[in-house]
Amino acid sequence: MSTQNLDRTFSIAPMLDWTDRHYRYFARIMSKQALLYTEMVTTGAIIHGKGDYLEFNEPEHPVALQLGGSNPQDLATCAKLAAERGYDEVNLNVGCPSDRVQNGRFGACLMAEPELVAECVDAMKQVVDIPVTVKSRIGIDDQDSYEFLTRFIDVVSASGCEEFTIHARKAWLQGLSPKQNREIPPLDYDRVYQIKKDYPQLNISINGGVTSLEQAKVHLEHVDGVMVGREAYNNPYILAEVDQQLCGIDAPVVTRQQVIDQMLPYIERHLSSGGKLHHITRHMTGLYQGIPGSRSWRRYLSENAHKAGADTQVVLDAIAAMEQGK
Ligand SMILES: Cc1cc2nc3c(=O)[nH]c(=O)nc-3n(C[C@H](O)[C@H](O)[C@H](O)COP(=O)(O)O)c2cc1C
Repeated sequence: MSTQNLDRTFSIAPMLDWTDRHYRYFARIMSKQALLYTEMVTTGAIIHGKGDYLEFNEPEHPVALQLGGSNPQDLATCAKLAAERGYDEVNLNVGCPSDRVQNGRFGACLMAEPELVAECVDAMKQVVDIPVTVKSRIGIDDQDSYEFLTRFIDVVSASGCEEFTIHARKAWLQGLSPKQNREIPPLDYDRVYQIKKDYPQLNISINGGVTSLEQAKVHLEHVDGVMVGREAYNNPYILAEVDQQLCGIDAPVVTRQQVIDQMLPYIERHLSSGGKLHHITRHMTGLYQGIPGSRSWRRYLSENAHKAGADTQVVLDAIAAMEQGK
């Protein structure tokens, strides 16, 4: 399923080490509508790496591949591979501030080079039919005026990019860790709202600090979409009502137990192909967040899922531990 008409109302942010294919499978059980993003994958890894960095499970659709890079030809090569593999979208990372990424001259530092970003988008759009989108910040370092952001949007949208996700805080390229860069620069939602007002023809998603569907609804009065990162990972059951509350879908809300029931056969398949239990359960520890006994569930999984021979019984025992810990 590749479509230009993806529902962009709600998306789950690309998160390195977190939004791998196991997490995405898990998230998809709870929301059929959410647009899922992969972790950032660098063009270097795809072109020169030994592993398969593009693997995903069919039920994950709609799923977008996030690329890290700034060489237009390499990005085009990777975008083409992504489209051939069936990804629904390719997204360019213009928001990551890590040193490693800056050394490669990509991520957030690209905000200072909109012409290069435009060239990258153009090169990708030449070779694929799926949407090519950009995820950025509102600024970097002292380049944090509204005019700086609009110049970026002007130049990049002129290359044919019609969908932007904007993390509503700037990034400091020196002195802050990536984690601090997600917490210290203040959120400025109004700036993203203003972009939507000034560019009504573009599809604008807002990102940063959203922790409830109520908050998401407020944002949706101003922009086209909301992207949620940490909360969707740490408290994944928030996803269970996305379709109903945000996307107007009339369907029953999946229960936590149903989520587990659907994960068990997936885990079995992973184990029988030589995978480890904790590859999957590490993403599930937040499922019972806020429920009595959830700490016992979390602790039991963390202590037992990595043991040799650990199988789905560990998950069932973790539920039993939670019942007892209530
Ligand atoms: C563990 C972690 C890894 C991340 N990796 C990426 C990444 O690969 N690409 C990217 O564009 N942003 C990455 N981010 C940033 C998120 O996509 C998002 O912009 C940020 O967390 C703010 O959204 P939130 O407040 O909803 O978490 C990462 C965030 C976290 C917490």
